[in-house]
Amino acid sequence: MKTIYFAASSLDGFIADKNDSLEWLFKNGPTDLSFIEDIMKDVGSIAMGASTYLWLLENNKDPWPYKIPCLVFTHRKLPLIEGADIRFVQGDVGPHHRELVRLAGGKNVWLAGGGELVGQFHDQGLLDEMQIQTVAVFLNEGKKLFSRRTETAFKIKEINQRGDTCVDVVYTVK
Ligand SMILES: NC(=O)c1ccc[n+]([C@@H]2O[C@H](COP(=O)([O-])OP(=O)(O)OC[C@H]3O[C@@H](n4cnc5c(N)ncnc54)[C@H](OP(=O)(O)O)[C@@H]3O)[C@@H](O)[C@H]2O)c1
Repeated sequence: MKTIYFAASSLDGFIADKNDSLEWLFKNGPTDLSFIEDIMKDVGSIAMGASTYLWLLENNKDPWPYKIPCLVFTHRKLPLIEGADIRFVQGDVGPHHRELVRLAGGKNVWLAGGGELVGQFHDQGLLDEMQIQTVAVFLNEGKKLFSRRTETAFKIKEINQRGDTCVDVVYTVK
């Protein structure tokens, strides 16, 4: 069981532009996204921040594609999708991580972002791996992939090229 941050990033480390748009990603990313289904087979629970949740509500064709429990971190009262296992939580990520592990039932926990929320998990030593899909574009500004300074390099475990615009790298954190 691992806690994994899976995200797609620009070359300069942004996961969304400053208006929370992911248009750049869908314009340039790989057309074959079937690997996401493979990743999801091993995932038992999800955590995400409020902006990521709202983006999904507003932009996804399927209003809620996930059948597994998801903790949404927020201080606000956000709309709930009927029938989806979504739990709104706030504060210290430590106890919430224990709940994510319990809910995952032996499978992996997927941290969907954003970068500040993932940083909170990393601060407590709870992040095991990052699977970052880097698209070869620069955004110059936007929402950060990871809102922490780390002076020790992560270790590279695996690299896969996807088409001619994108590379997936799996980094181990510990
Ligand atoms: N390219 C990709 O693969 C990818 C992946 C994920 C997300 N995205 C996009 O990137 C953007 C990420 O936005 P973002 O950086 O603003 O991050 P976010 O983590 O999605 O949302 C930030 C919000 O999460 C809440 N939050 C964070 N930590 C909390 C805590 N401990 N307790 C309670 N609430 C907490 C706060 O909401 P409140 O305001 O309610 O306090 C905060 O304003 C979105 O547009 C998303 O769609 C892209």
